[in-house]
Amino acid sequence: MSFSPYNRPVRAAFVGLGRVYDLNMRAYAGNPDVEVVALVDPSDERRTQRQADWPEARAFASVAELAASGLEVDAVEALLPIPLHSDTVIEMLGSGWHVNLQKPICNDLAGAERMIEAAETSGKQLRVMENYLFYEPLQKLKATVDSGELGEVSGYHVKMVASGLGGWDVPGSTYEWQFQQTRVGRGTLVFDDGWHKLSTAIWLFGPVKEVRAWIGNTEVIPGIDVDAPSTLVWEHVNGIRGIFDITLAVDMYLRSDYYTNDERWEVTGRRGYARVNRCTGRGIQQPSLEVYVDGEMRSYHALDDDWASSFRDSGRHWLHWLHTGEGPMLWSAAESVEVLRFALAAYASSDAGGTGFDPVSLD
Ligand SMILES: NC(=O)c1ccc[n+]([C@@H]2O[C@H](COP(=O)([O-])OP(=O)(O)OC[C@H]3O[C@@H](n4cnc5c(N)ncnc54)[C@H](O)[C@@H]3O)[C@@H](O)[C@H]2O)c1
Repeated sequence: MSFSPYNRPVRAAFVGLGRVYDLNMRAYAGNPDVEVVALVDPSDERRTQRQADWPEARAFASVAELAASGLEVDAVEALLPIPLHSDTVIEMLGSGWHVNLQKPICNDLAGAERMIEAAETSGKQLRVMENYLFYEPLQKLKATVDSGELGEVSGYHVKMVASGLGGWDVPGSTYEWQFQQTRVGRGTLVFDDGWHKLSTAIWLFGPVKEVRAWIGNTEVIPGIDVDAPSTLVWEHVNGIRGIFDITLAVDMYLRSDYYTNDERWEVTGRRGYARVNRCTGRGIQQPSLEVYVDGEMRSYHALDDDWASSFRDSGRHWLHWLHTGEGPMLWSAAESVEVLRFALAAYASSDAGGTGFDPVSLD
C-alpha cells in the first residue's frame, strides 16, 4: 500500500477520552510531530475534562459529527471500548483517516478481516498499538536474549497476578464494557490484559505453532466473573516453549500508579536467566531487570520502569512513523491478527479440554 509521509505536523483526533486516554495523551503532549485538532466522545463530562488539555481542539459527540464538520484530520488515536473497535475503525478509515487503535484489534477474525479490507480500500494505515513492546525493561530483556549471553533459550514463563486493592480508580462505565466482553467469552485477564503477554511472546520468540490452555473462572462478586485461574502453554515454530500463568489475589494490595497487575517475565537459557520483575505496578522492589549468568547477577537500576513511558514511546513511534513511513509499526494490523489467532487458539484449546491448536489453522 502506498503511503506519503507527512512533512508537517499531523492533524490528530482523539476518539474515546476514557481511562486510557491519560496514558496515550503523553505521546502527544509537547510533540512537534502532531497538532491535536479534535476530541470525540459521547460523554459531555469527558469532553469538558479533556478540553483542558487541548484548548484549541474542537470537540464532537461522535465520529459521524467530526466527519461531517469538514475539519481536516489526518490520523486518529482510537481509545474505544473493544466491542466498538471493528465498526468504528471501519467508519474512521472510510472517513480518510489513518488509525492508531488501542489493542486488542477486535474479538474475532471476521471483524479483523473487515478492518484490514477497509484499510486497503481507503489506502489508509491501521496500526494496533502495543505499548509493552516499548517498556524499556522488556526491550532490554529482548536485547539480552538476542545477544546470546543466556546461551540457547530453553524456555520462559510469564506471570500475571491480578490483585484487587490499590492503583488508580477505574470508572464503573469502563468495567461495564469489560463485563460485556466477559459475557461473550473474551475475559479481562486472558484477552484484554493477556493480549500484551501474547504479544511479547511473539515479539521475543516469533510465530507460535501450538497452544494448549485451561481457562478458568472465578465469581468475584455475585454476577461478576473473572477469567482466572488460567494457564496457557505454547510452542513457538523455533521449538521454544512458553507458559502464561494467570492468578487472582482479590484481597491483595499492590502499590501501583495504574492498574494493580503484578507481572513477571523470566527467560531461561542454557547458561543463565533474565527476569523482568514488574511492569504496570510496583510489585517486587528489585531492579526491574536482573540477568544471571555463570554465577553472577547483573541488576539494572536505571531503566525507565514507569509503565506510562511505554505509552508515550509507542505513540511517539507512530507519530514519527507517519513522518517517514519506514520501519516496523509495532504492530501492523496483520501482525496483530497473529496475536488474535494466538488468543483464539487458547480459547479453542480450553473448549476442547486442553488439546493443542495451531493458531494458523483457525477459521
Ligand atoms: N494498552 C493498555 O495497557 C490498555 C490499558 C487500558 C485499556 N486499553 C484499551 O484501551 C481501550 C479503551 O479502554 P479504556 O479503559 O480507556 O475504556 P473507557 O471505557 O474508560 O473509555 C472509553 C471511552 O470511549 C467513549 N466512547 C464510547 N463510545 C464511543 C463512540 N462511539 N465514539 C467515541 N467515543 C466513545 C466512552 O465514553 C469512554 O470515555 C480498550 O481497547 C482497552 O482494551 C489498553
